[in-house]
Amino acid sequence: MNKTNKLSNEEKNALYQLKRLAKKIEKHNELYHKNDSPIITDREFDILVKQNNLLEKKYPNLVIKNSPNKMTGGSISKKFEKSIHKLPMLSLANAFNEKDLIEFIARIKKFLNYGLEKKINFICEPKIDGLSINLYYKNGKLISASTRGDGKIGENVTNNILTIKDIPLILSGSNHPKEIEIRGEIFLNKKDFLIINDKLEDKYKFSNPRNAAAGSLRQLNTNITKTRPLKFLAHGIGAVSNNYDNLSTLYHNLKKWNIPFNNLIINSDSIKGMMTYYKKISDQRNNIEYDIDGIVFKINNIVLQNRLGFVGKNPRWAIALKFSAEKSKTVIKKIDFQVGRTGAITPVARLDVVNIGGVIVSNATLHNFDEIEKKDIRVGDLIEIQRAGDVIPQITKVIDKPATRGNKIIPPTNCPICDSKTVKEKEEAVLRCENIMGCEAQIVGRLKHFVGKKSLNIDGFGEKQILQLRKLGFIKNYIDIFKINKFEKKIINLEGWGRTSYRNLINSIEKSKEVEFNKFIYSLGIRFVGETISMLLAREFIKTEILISSLDKKIKLLNIDGLGPKAINSITSYFQNKNNKKIVCDLNKILKILPYQKSEYNNEFSGKNIVFTGALSKLSREEAKHIAIRLGAKILNSVTKKTDFLICGDKPGSKASKAKELNIKILSENEWISKTNA
Ligand code: IVH
Repeated sequence: MNKTNKLSNEEKNALYQLKRLAKKIEKHNELYHKNDSPIITDREFDILVKQNNLLEKKYPNLVIKNSPNKMTGGSISKKFEKSIHKLPMLSLANAFNEKDLIEFIARIKKFLNYGLEKKINFICEPKIDGLSINLYYKNGKLISASTRGDGKIGENVTNNILTIKDIPLILSGSNHPKEIEIRGEIFLNKKDFLIINDKLEDKYKFSNPRNAAAGSLRQLNTNITKTRPLKFLAHGIGAVSNNYDNLSTLYHNLKKWNIPFNNLIINSDSIKGMMTYYKKISDQRNNIEYDIDGIVFKINNIVLQNRLGFVGKNPRWAIALKFSAEKSKTVIKKIDFQVGRTGAITPVARLDVVNIGGVIVSNATLHNFDEIEKKDIRVGDLIEIQRAGDVIPQITKVIDKPATRGNKIIPPTNCPICDSKTVKEKEEAVLRCENIMGCEAQIVGRLKHFVGKKSLNIDGFGEKQILQLRKLGFIKNYIDIFKINKFEKKIINLEGWGRTSYRNLINSIEKSKEVEFNKFIYSLGIRFVGETISMLLAREFIKTEILISSLDKKIKLLNIDGLGPKAINSITSYFQNKNNKKIVCDLNKILKILPYQKSEYNNEFSGKNIVFTGALSKLSREEAKHIAIRLGAKILNSVTKKTDFLICGDKPGSKASKAKELNIKILSENEWISKTNA
């Protein structure tokens, strides 16, 4: 603090820039290296690094503790070398149901001028959820290996590939072509993904096997790659100096050369055969060691492939038929009632542990009591459970209601935590505990929300610590968190603490004080004010002082696009409450809330209505939505005539078909990333 006060205005500004650049560089470095999903170009990244280094050179006394140069040992701009593929690496168009597959085949026959009855032979194989790689062999020797990149230019990861046992350095057998690009998928088995994550600190954990494989392969330090049991399966070729008449022959050769390919591959020349295979593999999905997200159908005959060619980046001769959400069966052991930060009482089913697609599931949300009533769900029932992407598993239906099943579930008249009366508001499905200020579950819930990742993001401060420090009376409200040093000695001596943990907590709390305005609004936990509305409010009011003086009047809110009546009522009543106003004012004194920075809204998404569907694999939903909002777009939940774009992740379901029907522009996740270039 004191040090900052002595700085000139110019130095203060430089310090602000250095902090901002450090955060940005860290974020983009992580997106590039850990998630394999850069959202800015290399050039843009290099410019950030250059700006940082110039400032550090000019103001050596201002170099911060988190300087990108200190964090990465001075190698922030060190990346993989570029490598041009001899033939571009393409991607597959998606199909979501049998009808799409039938249409795909009909299109091919029309293109080839075949009668509908003419048979075409297809190779059918699982679509592995990994990352594609191009292996270039010359005279049977592995010369280079590169990632897909933008399809034309990838990154040279040869040194890392050399650590993968599955990939031969020299092709065995004979009659290999003089030159060949072998393409395939690098991935991790689900089991190995869990083992790797187990050893990583929470904040470094990968969210799925695909990200873990990408993060493991794209390490500049090959010693790390070496410790990760990456696997490889071939699924095609690029440029080749020999001619092959069909893929089956090629696969046969791969086997002789000791190149691994999928042993689940079959041939089929009928829709019936292809759909049977799809269903069979879909049923086996849980037992397959690696993540698969669909079936790829490719025309076997290479002459036909060449005739068909491409549409955009997709070959006309292949398609990926995606799987729907993963399902499984299990039994309900118990039904608990959980009380959230808004007092909502959610019934939660405790299940006989079940493995859904490699992920262990023991709980499922039952949403609300109407849902239980409608499906007549009880303890002892055999149920079907579904897991899609990162969302909480859901019970889709009751399969069997045994005679020994428990009693009907009755909504509690009193809160299971504080025993106050429960109420159900008009037109609401949710039952709530009335005791907003006194219910321990609600207080802890609010504190948890306040320190959470999307709010102030106080690292190392979770439910466990909140419960412990509340029990001792050290934390009664948000403000107490920033005065926790009063209890330094006592906390250090607590079980599970110590000097280092205490120091880390204090550092995290200090760091959290500098917070973006929209995150601050979100952290208050106002009902119906999620991330999107927080961003809208931040955009409108720019800084806290204006927010405080405006928000007890509805009129200021009525004109904000995207705010519905529920949110407007909730926001006004929050700010009409004197206690709440005081909390916001007090926090405003303690925190350094960064005013909202306006962006330019002259892009193709500004003012447009966007719907997201399906599981995104590179961006989190939150980040994808942030990008949209930053560009001035509006996010809607359902597809209607008014929708301008549907951004479609994995397993998109009915929204995608509706968008197709309505002729709405559909963008894949990758297209979204490259178009927004966030
Ligand atoms: S064939 C035109 N077969 O899926 C590309 N691809 O969007 C032909 N993938 O990047 C690829 N498993 O890396 C093919 N059995 C499989 C596959 C597969 C996974 C990946 C591939 C590509 C993406 C297609």
